[in-house]
Amino acid sequence: MEPSNVRRGPFAAALGWLRRRRDAPIIQCARLLPEACPGLTAALVALNLANAVVPAATIVATGLMVGSLPATAHAGLGSAAGHRTLVALGFWAGLMMLGEIGPRLLTATATSAGSRVESRVQQRVIAALNRPWSIAHLEDPATADLLSQVSGLGVGALGPGAAVSGRVTTRIPMILRSAISGALLFAYSWPAALLLFAAQFVFVRQIRRSWVEDARSILGKTDTVRRADYYRELALGAATAKEMRVLGLHGWLGDRLAREWKGRLFQDWKLRRWDTIGGVAGAVVASLAGLVVYGALAGDAARGVITLGALVIYLRSAQAIAGWGLSNADYAIEYGAAALPALRKLEAMTAAGPQAALRILPADAPSREIRFENVSFAYGAGAPILRDLSLSVPAGSSLAIVGLNGAGKTTLVKLLARLYDPTCGAITIDGVDLREIDPDIWRGRVAAIFQDFLRFGLSARDNVGFGGLSLADDETALARAAEKAGVLDRIRALPKGWHTPLMRQFTDGADLSGGEWQRIALARALMAVEAGARLLILDEPTAALDVRAEAEIYERFLELTRGLTTILVSHRFSTVRRAERICVLEHGAVVELGSHAELMALGGKYAELFMLQSQRFAEAEAAP
Ligand SMILES: Nc1ncnc2c1ncn2[C@@H]1O[C@H](COP(=O)(O)OP(=O)(O)O)[C@@H](O)[C@H]1O
Ligand SMILES: [Mg+2]
Repeated sequence: MEPSNVRRGPFAAALGWLRRRRDAPIIQCARLLPEACPGLTAALVALNLANAVVPAATIVATGLMVGSLPATAHAGLGSAAGHRTLVALGFWAGLMMLGEIGPRLLTATATSAGSRVESRVQQRVIAALNRPWSIAHLEDPATADLLSQVSGLGVGALGPGAAVSGRVTTRIPMILRSAISGALLFAYSWPAALLLFAAQFVFVRQIRRSWVEDARSILGKTDTVRRADYYRELALGAATAKEMRVLGLHGWLGDRLAREWKGRLFQDWKLRRWDTIGGVAGAVVASLAGLVVYGALAGDAARGVITLGALVIYLRSAQAIAGWGLSNADYAIEYGAAALPALRKLEAMTAAGPQAALRILPADAPSREIRFENVSFAYGAGAPILRDLSLSVPAGSSLAIVGLNGAGKTTLVKLLARLYDPTCGAITIDGVDLREIDPDIWRGRVAAIFQDFLRFGLSARDNVGFGGLSLADDETALARAAEKAGVLDRIRALPKGWHTPLMRQFTDGADLSGGEWQRIALARALMAVEAGARLLILDEPTAALDVRAEAEIYERFLELTRGLTTILVSHRFSTVRRAERICVLEHGAVVELGSHAELMALGGKYAELFMLQSQRFAEAEAAP
């Protein structure tokens, strides 16, 4: 066995250090720059170099000017010495001007580079989250944590963009400047220069480490931060205001928020206590080192070992080394840099594993049948929701799925739309496993309206057109879909017709009633049919309506979609009798299957609940 304390050569050690640095978050961050904006990156490099050289040149010009003054005072401005003073003065003035302009240009350039990086990161986040066709990862708290880490926790704009621009505008110039200006001190005495650099290095490293730790600790508490954000949303949101007021919860919420904050501040203080003390100690060491060097310089100047001009240069040079400090911007840098590993994890999490080539479906599929073959399913590590469920849906027929709340109806439909994959068993389309089918193609074949369908605060045209993006500009297709859904006249009567935003907050916006929204959703599904959808699913978008209204909508829907494969979902047993086949779902399994007449004749669960519900319905109708 190799001894663990093998001595490595200095070269190998340096290489190892470089390799570790290469993976440091801040370096990963910096690599985003050329990826996001190559032109700006080149400008940043040039500006950084200029900004580092100008202060050093200014120091030299100052020294030359001061150094030539005694001779000029003696011989007059017209002399050769006077000429040297004037030239040095001219250089000095020019350099001072550059020293003013340079940093401003750098800040402006770095800010726009930062926002490019930020937007690039956002694109990568969106791409990563949308890569899987399934939505299971979106419900995972681990994803939410990574997401809040990437977006800088909402603590201001502390994403990787801030890190990059902070790094470029503050830290890199500062280090370069002190390195180049400080190098002038080597001409005086290399031990003095080394002493100052070493003391400063220890000081800065100490503070920086505490900030890295701090950022890491906060990033490890994203759950707490998200909860605090949620409380704030509750307290301030318009959507929550109604119940928050009626329940009188504002006092309680204020206490909660205050407690969360106090807890966090206390944690922060505990965390930073030693770092603060360490920082002070570092500052004392750095000051003592400065005292030694300044003292030596003053002594040498007094004894005439160095000239007045040289003294000015060396003093300014020593000061420049001490200028390599840390500002608040560095704090933002540590946060922002810490966000990047989160982005990487997010991308790794959603990266597609090795996958067999995807199957392309024929344009008329499903043309034979959709089959659930011994399908079981559980959300995450939860209890099974579907249990060994087998069901065949012949293509071109209508099927109703009925069952009490929580029976697993929506889950079944979500599996069919491939928002989740079965835990066991398979769903097949004309004999092909759904998992092997190109998800984009399958998405084009399915139109589903869920109970909580999206009401886009966009134009009526978008709301319907989103059903079939390929036909979004086809006016006749839009009108046909809206007409069939019974909402065309309502759309035409809106203040700006099809272009009216369906949200009151917008200029010329309109609010629709619940029933009108349902028709819009229906039109959207019919638009999908225009664009090639072959399987239509209605998952209780009508749950807020009364029984009769739901029955009417379902019947109309069956009329409109005759010949297509249609699935109607309801927790009411009395609204789907017109479906060709009805399947009763209980605890995630099919317990009855047949036509209305067959199931009534069977006299089971369906018959019982149908009788009960239609009886109640009749009584309600008869009541005055
Ligand atoms: N995203 C989810 N994560 C975890 N559990 C869920 C999720 N969605 C639904 N469930 C659970 O699955 C069960 C079946 O829900 P669902 O399929 O919506 O029933 P139904 O549509 O028949 O009312 C319920 O117990 C519900 O709490
Ligand atoms: Mg449901």
